Amino acid sequence: MANKKGIILAGGSGTRLFPITSSVNKHLLPVFNKPMVYYSLSVLMLADIKDYLIVTNPQHINSFKNLFDDGQQLGISIQYAEQKEANGIAEAFKIGRKFIANDPVTLILGDNILFGAGLRGKLQEVNFESKAAIFSYEVKDPERYGVVELDNNGRPKTIEEKPKTPKSRLAIPGLYMYPNDVIDKVNTLKPSARGELEITDLNKLYLEENRLQVIPLSRGYAWLDAGTERALLEASNFISAIEDRQGLRIGSIEEIAWQMGWITQSQLAHLGQSIAGSEYGKYLINISE
Ligand code: DAU
Repeated sequence: MANKKGIILAGGSGTRLFPITSSVNKHLLPVFNKPMVYYSLSVLMLADIKDYLIVTNPQHINSFKNLFDDGQQLGISIQYAEQKEANGIAEAFKIGRKFIANDPVTLILGDNILFGAGLRGKLQEVNFESKAAIFSYEVKDPERYGVVELDNNGRPKTIEEKPKTPKSRLAIPGLYMYPNDVIDKVNTLKPSARGELEITDLNKLYLEENRLQVIPLSRGYAWLDAGTERALLEASNFISAIEDRQGLRIGSIEEIAWQMGWITQSQLAHLGQSIAGSEYGKYLINISE
């Protein structure tokens, strides 16, 4: 497999969460005990990606740099790019063209939270060098999402963005894997009625060419998006309940960096000591012992 590259999309206007997001980027809001973007970064880290581009609004880029710097403390590399307006999710591939260069690429939306046993293996085994890959997850309100309809063999038949009458209950989570030709395909897209370059239109191009795989995430996984005030609270409660029960943390990027072998035990301890006054810091110190 070629170099593994990941884009985290953390722009948008955040209007659905005003006034909370009037001066703070949505993806930096807390989901229980960590910034929201930790969860999406942790998913891509589990997919064994070490090379990142974070795409966000010009006015918030420094907040992300303050949070992650160049990623070296986690044994990864993080670069940053601006999305000037919320022109759509697919614009990430135009903005990231140079970063992607000649490699396939994985995109995750910074407000998506994915969690479940076996996720690491599931993500790492996807081959998307010649076919794109999206995921599917059964929900009770598919009309809020991109929706995929499958044939009897589990192959995609139709994909629609927020259909009024969905053809299935399978929503498409904000995690997408593309071959390198995504950087050309995105240039053929036209803005939708809502004025955005739609990720669903991009996926349709792969579907038309018979180059779209759909990987089911079964009910044993949790997929949450923290994009509304209610969803934000529910995501915090969910994370808190599981962490409290197990005494383990979900989406701890420092812990994952250590588990992946990208930082040493003493580097992990050092990261914990630098924030030792917090419960989070104490947890890192604890696991490093
Ligand atoms: O959450 C999964 C869903 O995300 C998919 O099922 C849909 O197919 C996909 O279109 C998208 O749904 P929304 O259109 O409701 O996404 P939203 O506008 O809320 O943006 C999702 C994230 O992407 C959010 O964290 C903000 C960021 N974003 C969005 C746009 C449009 C950007 O950074 N830039 C953008 O231009």
